[in-house]
Amino acid sequence: MLTAIQQAAATHLLTKEEIVRLLQTTEFDGPLFEAANALREKYVGNLVHLRGLIEFSNICKQNCLYCGLRRENLNVQRYRLTTEEILDFAAKARSYGYRTVVLQSGEDDYFTVDKLQYIIRKIKELDLAITLSVGEKSTDEYRAYKEAGADRYLLRIETTDQALYERLDPGMSFVNRIRCLKDLRELGYELGTGCLVGLPGQTLESLADDILFFKELNADMVGIGPFIPNPDTPLAAAAGGSFELSLKVMAITRLLLPDINIPATTAMETLNRQGRVVALQSGANVVMPNVTEGDYRKFYALYPGKICINDTPAHCRGCITGKITAIGRSISEDYGFRNKCCPL
Ligand code: SAM
Ligand code: SF4
Ligand code: FES
Repeated sequence: MLTAIQQAAATHLLTKEEIVRLLQTTEFDGPLFEAANALREKYVGNLVHLRGLIEFSNICKQNCLYCGLRRENLNVQRYRLTTEEILDFAAKARSYGYRTVVLQSGEDDYFTVDKLQYIIRKIKELDLAITLSVGEKSTDEYRAYKEAGADRYLLRIETTDQALYERLDPGMSFVNRIRCLKDLRELGYELGTGCLVGLPGQTLESLADDILFFKELNADMVGIGPFIPNPDTPLAAAAGGSFELSLKVMAITRLLLPDINIPATTAMETLNRQGRVVALQSGANVVMPNVTEGDYRKFYALYPGKICINDTPAHCRGCITGKITAIGRSISEDYGFRNKCCPL
């Protein structure tokens, strides 16, 4: 396996069997994380890109079994931010030095194309890059957001096991999810996807397929997080994913896609107090601190134990700066698009 890791670091190729083997054993974790960290440094450098996350609505028409925002969860206080609040949080994010904001929400049809286009146009006036993460939409809607100025889109495939996907996301179709990703790519977005690790019924083979899917899609950004069971969902009693396995899926993704943006995810830090720093040293180069203010953070309750729910955007900005500089890395001052400089 050591040879496979070394070869993958040079060729960015691994077979499904090799990936499964790496996921099965802890024996090669040290060399794996080192190789991913070295590739991160070689291809995307030592700068960490920050994205300011605005969780602008927790209202969702979907019913994903794993998610606290699912429509049948009556135990969550629902909110949607006003346009003014969204623009205010974006302006504050800019003033804290962020160059990208991520607008994330449940699938909330209150935000029509016109409303979202207006918000996107106003935020672009602040000289910010915009990532949207608002779920499955029609081709025309994706086109309209792009025309208004959205730069990137984040839509995790969640799992490439079609039967598992459709069991866990009732009423949603895997084929449509793929259609969305294809549309986003064709419309010229920087394309972000990713998966959950530790879903009930998910196998290591299926996680290997997820990694190979990211490679085949040539995703520009891949976010990987452990599934954390939420007591207010049908998966309350599930075991959930581990930090270690999520970290490995992330590191192998870096081997296969050396020049992409990979976030150290909030869910990783929820399971491990140093989770984001460890991830930054195992292949990640992006962090997405929350810039939503007040109680909204608490109400955006995907899973229990979410970090930063009582902190302010200013505090989080200082906290993450401290963590990044403490490991000898610096914060990028540009938009942080995928680094396409390097021959692959
Ligand atoms: N509604 C949009 C969507 O589904 O793409 C964006 C918001 S959704 C809350 C963002 C991500 O949260 C999902 O892609 C999913 O991977 C993650 N998520 C949901 N429930 C989770 C849980 N229990 N543990 C960890 N991550 C979770
Ligand atoms: Fe809604 Fe997204 Fe949660 Fe599914 S994962 S219930 S689409 S917010
Ligand atoms: Fe929010 Fe550390 S990033 S408290």
